[in-house]
Amino acid sequence: MISIVGTGRVGSSIAFLCVSNALDDVLLVNRSKEKAIGEALDIASAIPSHSKFSIRGTDDYSEISGSKIVVITASVGIYMKDRTENMALQVNMIKEIAAKIKQYCPSAIILLVSNPLDVLTYFFQKESSLPRFKVIGIASNLDTSRFRYYISETLSVPQSSISNALVLGEHGDSMVPIFSGVSVGGNPLFSMIDSRDSITDDVRNYWKKLRNFKSRSQFGIAKNTFDVIDAILNKNEILLPASVVLEGEYGESDVAMGVPVKIDHNGISEIQHVKLDDTESSSLKKSSEKIRNYIQSVQT
Ligand code: LAC
Repeated sequence: MISIVGTGRVGSSIAFLCVSNALDDVLLVNRSKEKAIGEALDIASAIPSHSKFSIRGTDDYSEISGSKIVVITASVGIYMKDRTENMALQVNMIKEIAAKIKQYCPSAIILLVSNPLDVLTYFFQKESSLPRFKVIGIASNLDTSRFRYYISETLSVPQSSISNALVLGEHGDSMVPIFSGVSVGGNPLFSMIDSRDSITDDVRNYWKKLRNFKSRSQFGIAKNTFDVIDAILNKNEILLPASVVLEGEYGESDVAMGVPVKIDHNGISEIQHVKLDDTESSSLKKSSEKIRNYIQSVQT
């Protein structure tokens, strides 16, 4: 079973993708039972005729027992200018959720989506004391899809011609697109662009631009979360960047941030090391420091 905590636009979009692709039974958990039931009833009409699975909604956390995967999209409110708005309230909320998950399904794989993503990934893992490779923050793969999109738009090439696009670090304004490994049609990206600054700014500010046209993102994060759920349940190994608590990798400890990981049916199987140029290494250090400062600001 896939439990999804939070049934707003993102949680319900993830549920829709899981149900319409017949991945597994889905349980929607929301503090409003009516909201959870309403979304479940709507999405139930998308169950394919060949599916063995169903969907239901509840406000009772005990019903998550036996979940293979728990996705957390819950939020205390909408942030307007920065993902770290409401940070203290979000951390308190994630600690409460962590305690319930530890009580009802301690062996589940946890996919964090709520913001500020890296800070909440860190506090969830510390509060729940679940193995760090079972607590996965979903966002750097979303940022990577935006990086690929802007390369495609800038160079007028199909995304299928772009290899090794990758964004690491904070799911925030300090995120680090890794240009040095990218090739387009077999040629190094660096041979086709004059500077990394413009695309870097575009990727970092993608969500701000999007908000000029709609209240908040929904489908990109939903699909990138669905891809991880699909890989875990269908026992496909997947390589992508995700936020995870680090213990020395990339020279960092006691912080969570986006790094390249291999994910299989047990969660993260390994953190991959990728070559970074000096600019990228320096930017990644700044990004980890920013996350660490956020963590410390809540701890004090
Ligand atoms: C975004 C949200 C998911 O970047 O943080 O759209």
